[in-house]
Amino acid sequence: MKVRIKRDVNFVEYDVALQDATLLELLNTIKMQQDSSLAFSSGCRSSVCGSCAMRVNDKEVLACAYKVQEGDVIEPLRNVEVLRDLVVNMDKAFQTNKRAQTWLQTYNKEAKLTHEDEKINALQSDCILCGSCYSACPVYAVNAEFLGPFALTGVWKYVSDKREASPQEKIDTVQTNGVWDCTLCNECTLVCPQNISSKADIEKLRMKSTMAGYNDPNFTGGLSFDGGLSF
Ligand code: SF4
Ligand code: SF4
Ligand code: FES
Repeated sequence: MKVRIKRDVNFVEYDVALQDATLLELLNTIKMQQDSSLAFSSGCRSSVCGSCAMRVNDKEVLACAYKVQEGDVIEPLRNVEVLRDLVVNMDKAFQTNKRAQTWLQTYNKEAKLTHEDEKINALQSDCILCGSCYSACPVYAVNAEFLGPFALTGVWKYVSDKREASPQEKIDTVQTNGVWDCTLCNECTLVCPQNISSKADIEKLRMKSTMAGYNDPNFTGGLSFDGGLSF
């Protein structure tokens, strides 16, 4: 099976005698049998740790879960610094969680969670921080400061948690470089290995923002015309 792997600015072709293998198995085989200098990240080998995310044919996948195909073109994640070959520096991406304050801000000790309450944001709790959604998001081409899909999903997780006594503070935090910068393109949802829809979470945060008195800045500013309709 022949595949091409991006290394620095070039693509290098490898021919590997493997069938029905995961991409991670293929990368390990290349490293052990052909080229020990090939660099990539991995950990759990079972879609849990999130460390092996990369792109195949322009789509984000987990290397330990993806069945590699003849002719596949393999590249590192986008929107993050490439350290070497398929290894990226996720620091800037992970800092979005800190900027968006994806944690319980003020703990309401009186709130008791029912099973129904737990279901509300159970899916968002499954994020493995693989960075696939961050890589797929087109907004980074125009706004490097965008809080981005997984951080905004993290915000929704706590805004929807009744143990959070200050959800309004969280809504305030995502008004700049946050919910209104998303194009709702849904690319993040399509690549998430945990079936999380950050787009849907952002829409819910927009609804909460509107209820809190915020408006979409893209549609404010008194636009009007002779017909009298104004925004
Ligand atoms: S829906 Fe929003 S957050 Fe998701 S990829 Fe598109 S622009 Fe980015
Ligand atoms: S939301 Fe999904 S794609 Fe994004 S970091 Fe979490 S698990 Fe990965
Ligand atoms: S090696 Fe852990 S998710 Fe792939």
